[in-house]
Amino acid sequence: MPFSLSSLGERQSPSEITRLMAVALERPDILSLAAGFTDNESLPLEDVSSVVDEIAQEGLAGRSALQYGSNIGREGLRELVANRIEDSDTTKRGTLNREQLYISNGSQQALYLAVQTLCDPGDIILVEQPTYFVFLEILQGLGARPIGIPTTSESEIDLAGLESLLVEAERTGELERIKALYLVSYFANPSGSSVSEATKEGIGKILGGLSSTVAIIEDAAYREIYYEKPFSAKSCLALEPYQGAPVFYTSTLTKPYASGLKVGYAYCTEPLWLAAMLNVKGQQDFGTANFAQTIVERAVKKGYLDRHLNSLRSIYHAKMNTLHEALSGPLESLGWNWKAPEGGLYLWLNSPTGLRTDANSPFHEACIKQGVFYVPGDLCYPDSRICDRIRLSFGVLGEEDLREAARRFVAAAMAMTEPARG
Ligand SMILES: Cc1ncc(COP(=O)(O)O)c(C=O)c1O
Repeated sequence: MPFSLSSLGERQSPSEITRLMAVALERPDILSLAAGFTDNESLPLEDVSSVVDEIAQEGLAGRSALQYGSNIGREGLRELVANRIEDSDTTKRGTLNREQLYISNGSQQALYLAVQTLCDPGDIILVEQPTYFVFLEILQGLGARPIGIPTTSESEIDLAGLESLLVEAERTGELERIKALYLVSYFANPSGSSVSEATKEGIGKILGGLSSTVAIIEDAAYREIYYEKPFSAKSCLALEPYQGAPVFYTSTLTKPYASGLKVGYAYCTEPLWLAAMLNVKGQQDFGTANFAQTIVERAVKKGYLDRHLNSLRSIYHAKMNTLHEALSGPLESLGWNWKAPEGGLYLWLNSPTGLRTDANSPFHEACIKQGVFYVPGDLCYPDSRICDRIRLSFGVLGEEDLREAARRFVAAAMAMTEPARG
């Protein structure tokens, strides 16, 4: 009898980016502007070591960090997280119901649970264009379909376009299959842009007027990685049009701290959805690693996380400037364009008209030949139709490597664009 998988197992395919990374890894000299890794030099070894020492010295009490915890996550940590969300949203402490917040194995797990418990194969999630490509992979893996939210010429969410899309779906009977709208609302991966409060409110009003329920999945993974000041918009949790609507809000405590600890969280306003996610989480792991949570809880309490965030903001700001400045002179004159972001880890480049940047393009090959690697932008679109964008990540490389990577990237761009200009 041949071995056979479930339909979910059958649907899985290796992530395109993992495949591309494997190609790059065959060339150890390659400088990767692709990986979404975080700054290596500043990873908080001393903080973690002092917290672990403290735990080790506490005897029996400390030992509890090595015991299983609860499925929903440590109470103390959930309280700290709820306070953080409330402070960011300038809402009164105690507004959020702590029982609706759970700790996850990174925000990635929370995103997966959210889609898994909401969508059957064939169901639809509306996504920004571009969007977080690993979220598109979750949808693919679960058999859900992404549909792009229309954008304006300024690459912002087009509210009128969204409304017509939904009205049309209502007319054709497809609306019931649209389960949620996914927003990466602060310093997004990959675009670096944020969603204004007016746009969020506009979306909320449109969704509130529909004949069937479309939830919001708000991914705020980069909310705290601003360079100079936080982006002013409140989360959907705190906005009027979403009161009484199903809102799922997720973010991470460790991407801007010690990414390897993988501690994220999610707040969900819809009790049925929340219970389903917690039940699945119970089956998967019955709780995020208690030891990792303990470390993070103490780091938050002692102010280590905020201290780290403060220094990380200048580190990422400086790295962004280094890459941005090294690229802008030579590339802008070749017709490339992008905006310097005000937070996050990415530059989102628009190539000169007609220059393809996808994994099969001569430009991609030219970059590999030069020894630099990027994420082809088409991976960030639901239909891969747009093939002239590039995501560059400046998180992990040091300043000198960033300058060298930029030099190689420019060399590849010149090799491609120069004949066309002549
Ligand atoms: C937009 C976005 N959401 C979620 C995540 C997941 O992060 P983590 O699981 O480390 O919290 C990432 C990681 O890069 C991301 O870019």
